[in-house]
Amino acid sequence: MLSYRRCGSSGVLLPEISLGLWHNFGDIDSQSEARGMLLAAFEQGITHFDLANNYGPPPGSAERNFGRILQQDLSAHRDEMIISTKAGHAMWPGPYGEWGSRKHLLASLDQSLERMRIPYVDVFYSHRPDPDTPLEETMSALATAVSSGRALYAGISKYPLPMLRDAVEILRSMGVRTLIYQPPYSILNRWPEAEGIHAWLEQQGIGSIVFSPLAQGMLTDKYVSGIPAGSRAARPDGFLQEQQVIAQQEKIRALHQLAESAGMPLHHLALRWVLQQQGVTSAIIGARSVAQLDDNLRALKGPALTDDILTTIDQLCPAVRKDHAEA
Ligand SMILES: NC(=O)c1ccc[n+]([C@@H]2O[C@H](COP(=O)([O-])OP(=O)(O)OC[C@H]3O[C@@H](n4cnc5c(N)ncnc54)[C@H](OP(=O)(O)O)[C@@H]3O)[C@@H](O)[C@H]2O)c1
Repeated sequence: MLSYRRCGSSGVLLPEISLGLWHNFGDIDSQSEARGMLLAAFEQGITHFDLANNYGPPPGSAERNFGRILQQDLSAHRDEMIISTKAGHAMWPGPYGEWGSRKHLLASLDQSLERMRIPYVDVFYSHRPDPDTPLEETMSALATAVSSGRALYAGISKYPLPMLRDAVEILRSMGVRTLIYQPPYSILNRWPEAEGIHAWLEQQGIGSIVFSPLAQGMLTDKYVSGIPAGSRAARPDGFLQEQQVIAQQEKIRALHQLAESAGMPLHHLALRWVLQQQGVTSAIIGARSVAQLDDNLRALKGPALTDDILTTIDQLCPAVRKDHAEA
């Protein structure tokens, strides 16, 4: 049912929709729902699971829970999956627990492999740009991850375009091809497009896997008239702030109306929009339940968005460079 797209000019195909484990897979979450989502996702053709060292809470627990479910239920299918992880955000105390040093990246990758009970990941990312560590050092850690067999491919997340260009070049000089870049991207957050990142990635043959295509849930019907209990914006451990929702509410309502007049829920409009944009290989969604996951996958069954709808979206939510973006 899912289609697979080539990741840049590499040999890797990724599902249009990938599943991320940032929220809802930690120790504080329902383990049976988490297991249900992973099994339902794989059953429906989602072959790519996106993790990071710090996903939880507590940090590390999403990888540990994923590893347990993988071993119990899916170990026979490891070669049918792409498993990604990242290092760079705060993970453990002291000076080596975050950012872009070789020390942090390689120690973190070893910890991730142990938590997930696997000998290698498919993709290892530098999770965020580090303004203080020489780029050569961070890239040398990615190159070592690949040459040592702990990762099959290297990825880069959230770097601004000039730094991304340099990183790709340095990796190339070390004999490593950048497989994939991971930016945030949604109707409400179009800075990668405004900065020409997707066009550049296409030229370079690098895939783009975009995160938070539903703007953490803002591009669903739930925030149209307030902040419902249990939603990410209402959860103390959720990353989405109430003020972010309030700042976007006018646009959310206008987009909700547009989706309604086109005969689809807002989250289907949002997912179809992202998958129709230039250079997008896959969209990493989050889900709180099997029902949400299934509902999101139904978005793929609808027809492409018309030019009229795309133009209205451009008018309501134009692509704006990062410094000016609201979400
Ligand atoms: N590289 C990076 O720095 C980075 C940063 C962020 C994320 N990511 C990756 O991207 C993944 C996805 O991010 P995200 O979770 O923010 O993605 P998202 O798809 O934009 O938001 C997911 C949230 O939207 C709500 N939702 C989803 N489907 C729904 C539906 N059908 N109906 C109603 N509500 C629905 C749920 O929140 P409620 O709890 O409110 O229901 C869900 O947890 C992460 O797991 C992670 O793998 C990477």
